[in-house]
Amino acid sequence: MWKQPLVTDFFKKYRWDYVMAVVAVGISKIIQVQIPNIIGNLINQFRLGITVRLIQHYAGELAVVSIGYVLLFGLGQFTVGKLARIFEAHLRQRLFSHWELLEVQYFQKHTVGDLLSHVLNDVPTVRQAMAGGISQILQAAFLFLATLAMTVTKINWILTAASLIPLLLIPVVVVRIGPKIRRQSRLVQEALSEMSDLAEESLQSIRLIKSTANEPIETQRFTRKTDLIYDRSMDLVRLNTTFQALIPLLTGISFAIALVFGGELTLTHKISLGAFVAFTVYLSMLVRPLMQFGNVINIFQNSSASLSRIETLLKAKPQITDPASPQSMPSFPSVTIQDLTFKYPHSTKPALQHITLKIPAGSTLGIVGHTGAGKTTLCSLLLRELDPDPGAIFIGGVDIRDLSRADLRDHVAYVPQEGFLFSFPVGDNIGFPLTDSNPALVTEAAHKARILTTIQNMPRGFATIVGERGINLSGGQRQRVAIARALVKIDAKILILDDSLSAVDSGTESSILAALQELRQKNQTTTIIISHRLSSLRDVDHILVLEDGMMAEYGTPKDLLSRLGGLYSHLYHIQTQGGAHLG
Ligand SMILES: Nc1ncnc2c1ncn2[C@@H]1O[C@H](COP(=O)(O)OP(=O)(O)O)[C@@H](O)[C@H]1O
Ligand SMILES: [Mg+2]
Repeated sequence: MWKQPLVTDFFKKYRWDYVMAVVAVGISKIIQVQIPNIIGNLINQFRLGITVRLIQHYAGELAVVSIGYVLLFGLGQFTVGKLARIFEAHLRQRLFSHWELLEVQYFQKHTVGDLLSHVLNDVPTVRQAMAGGISQILQAAFLFLATLAMTVTKINWILTAASLIPLLLIPVVVVRIGPKIRRQSRLVQEALSEMSDLAEESLQSIRLIKSTANEPIETQRFTRKTDLIYDRSMDLVRLNTTFQALIPLLTGISFAIALVFGGELTLTHKISLGAFVAFTVYLSMLVRPLMQFGNVINIFQNSSASLSRIETLLKAKPQITDPASPQSMPSFPSVTIQDLTFKYPHSTKPALQHITLKIPAGSTLGIVGHTGAGKTTLCSLLLRELDPDPGAIFIGGVDIRDLSRADLRDHVAYVPQEGFLFSFPVGDNIGFPLTDSNPALVTEAAHKARILTTIQNMPRGFATIVGERGINLSGGQRQRVAIARALVKIDAKILILDDSLSAVDSGTESSILAALQELRQKNQTTTIIISHRLSSLRDVDHILVLEDGMMAEYGTPKDLLSRLGGLYSHLYHIQTQGGAHLG
């Protein structure tokens, strides 16, 4: 774990904070081991003759030492804990900003749940190592060495060595049994959550189960689960008992050696009574650091696995990259598509074939086609979420592959079919494409998208939380929020509506389209409107009819309408006759 650049870079950056923490903890431990010594001296004073003044003196010494210890130890502990939190935040940010760079396909291969589990499990595990791990190893190392130094120099080194032998087995026990306990409790947890899933499923389908007389089978399934939980829990109890018995056993043996051997040394006056008492206190101070050594080994093993997983995630390279020296976005961009053919990596048939057309700057293209015709694929190519071949798509005469993706994102406003809402205030839902959200722009965009009145009637207006954790909007309202979100990007030179008015009633749709038309004329926005409702495409300049990824028809609405037998005129007649309200 300590060789991975994520960690080494962090240590380098915060090296002085770490040095301070090490020094603080080190000195605090040196102070801490003075305590048994002071008690030993006090006991020796009892034999030499004690006065109240002397007792006060020792009490004063103890107080000063304890305060010094607490302050320094606290400082070290706090610093290490704080740095670990900084590291954790830094890791999370790295992961998120890395994911932002990857394209949509990556998230089709890795489910969002999987990715989040790394943020929720692996990142905290690494933080634990950086906080608990480092602070325990510091404490353990300093306390162990300082205690040994005291017992060897001030008491007796043979006594120290002899009593220490059984204690040295403590880290071995912790490293051997600790991970087994962890694994076993995870198994118990898993069995428990399987049982609760099963209970939920059974109870939810209780009517079905009863109507099919399936109770005995259900009960049997449940019993099998509870048996499993019992078996796994018993294994856990066994492991815990063994662990909790072994540590006191080893400590006990160590104390027995200390009492027998140390007692003899005291009787033969090789060490003083105070030294003997102090030694037993020192011995008890060694148990914790030795357990900590074992713990730390376990923590570091876990976190090194987590850290490797995080590093693997960070190594995923975006397949679509920016050109070495991107060209700047043309100010009045036309869109030219030149014999564009595109096939998804794992499919056999191209999703688009030989598409050639030009959308002059400031004009509007309508696209019609059945589901699966390739409409959304064309949008993804224009947004460079998918990579077209060189020479296939030009924006303002510049190959789309020569533009930076950030520039493209800033200048192309895309409204997907499913108006997605984030669980935050509706105003921010509209304003977030802007770096500094301007309330006037947000209101203006909401007005153009015909959602302003709806928002003003919400309990807290623009501050109303929407989405999963807030109030639920209808499909049409969601779509209108999504349109407002696109309109707030006033720098956008290209606007793409991917069937994004399908859930809006046709009256509102016409009114939104009229507002867009006005905007188009003012800003010279190049627009693409994909729609199943041909009435939405009444005012477009050209229409492309896509069929199976190919250009079935292309021309002005008037041209296409006069082409009898064509798909467009067929659909047009169905829609105008099938429902007068659509017209
Ligand atoms: N990520 C993908 N991987 C493979 N094939 C895809 C992917 N997305 C869409 N397709 C296929 O490409 C074709 C066009 O899809 P799409 O562009 O979504 O059509 P539309 O938007 O016109 O309904 C369909 O055959 C679809 O199955
Ligand atoms: Mg689509």
